[in-house]
Amino acid sequence: MNSIHHFGGDWTENKLTRLKKYLDAYISIFKSNMRAARLHTIYVDAFAGTGYRNIEKTKANIATLPLLDDAEAVSFQKGSAYIALEMEPSFDEYIFIEQSSEYSKELEKLRIRFPEKSNKVTIIQQDANSYLQKWCRNNNWRFDRAVIFLDPYGMQVEWKTIAVIANTKAIDLWILFPLGQAVNRLLTKKCPPTGAWADRLTRFFGTEDWKNAFYQECQQLELFQKETSLKKEANFASIGKYFIEQLKSVFEGVAENPLPLRNTRNIPIFLLCFAASNPTGAKTAVKIAQHILGK
Ligand SMILES: C[S@@+](CC[C@H](N)C(=O)[O-])C[C@H]1O[C@@H](n2cnc3c(N)ncnc32)[C@H](O)[C@@H]1O
Repeated sequence: MNSIHHFGGDWTENKLTRLKKYLDAYISIFKSNMRAARLHTIYVDAFAGTGYRNIEKTKANIATLPLLDDAEAVSFQKGSAYIALEMEPSFDEYIFIEQSSEYSKELEKLRIRFPEKSNKVTIIQQDANSYLQKWCRNNNWRFDRAVIFLDPYGMQVEWKTIAVIANTKAIDLWILFPLGQAVNRLLTKKCPPTGAWADRLTRFFGTEDWKNAFYQECQQLELFQKETSLKKEANFASIGKYFIEQLKSVFEGVAENPLPLRNTRNIPIFLLCFAASNPTGAKTAVKIAQHILGK
């Protein structure tokens, strides 16, 4: 292990634990149900990182976390790709997408850690949006089913990617919505953002309607004249609700209780959200996800 990959905080463990619970439930359904067992299962980690998460060693976390080695200053914890590979029974195929060449090389080393699964793993060093959009469109979904985990640092996921995932009717999606991390910050208080910030929000939500959803007209008296302007009328709850409604507009089923992942100042930096696109499986999938999110 050469590359150090620091990300997240205490909430990261929480997110990964819930993802793992879902993957366990998913694979156990697919392997135990005779009809489902004929389908080919794929786990896609689209912001895969290195397979590990590095954290500073402190007296407190040495006692409480499942650390992977005894290095001096930092320790290695399992990242999402590692957790998925560790599962038994396993998925039939794993696709790890990572833009960084350095991190992709680290992902390659997972083949050494899991030699018996090496031939099931494909590592793609590309932008997750362009790869996923093409893959979802071109793959034959008749016998393939997938779980995709979208775990970006911020607003890297485009709505087009989410829409194309939903359109496969074969994929369950776990996604981190960057609520306090990015979206709330871009929604400036006095008036809606313009230029690059506005474009970013539009690409992210897939519509310009966020302006109507998050801003309201207000009238002010300026030099004896009434001036109309737009003022932010959105908070964490309404922004989260808007994203869930957006997911509902394209997915068969969406978990109603996304999990706020809070930083040490209690700010909900991300919402862990779940959506299912398969008409046959969505009801059960959402029920399981809601249970996992609610615990
Ligand atoms: C929060 S980390 C992922 C952590 C990982 N899920 C884990 O649990 O170990 C986000 C990763 O996404 C990668 N990344 C950022 N933008 C990307 C993009 N457009 N396409 C693919 N990967 C990207 C970063 O290099 C980083 O490794």
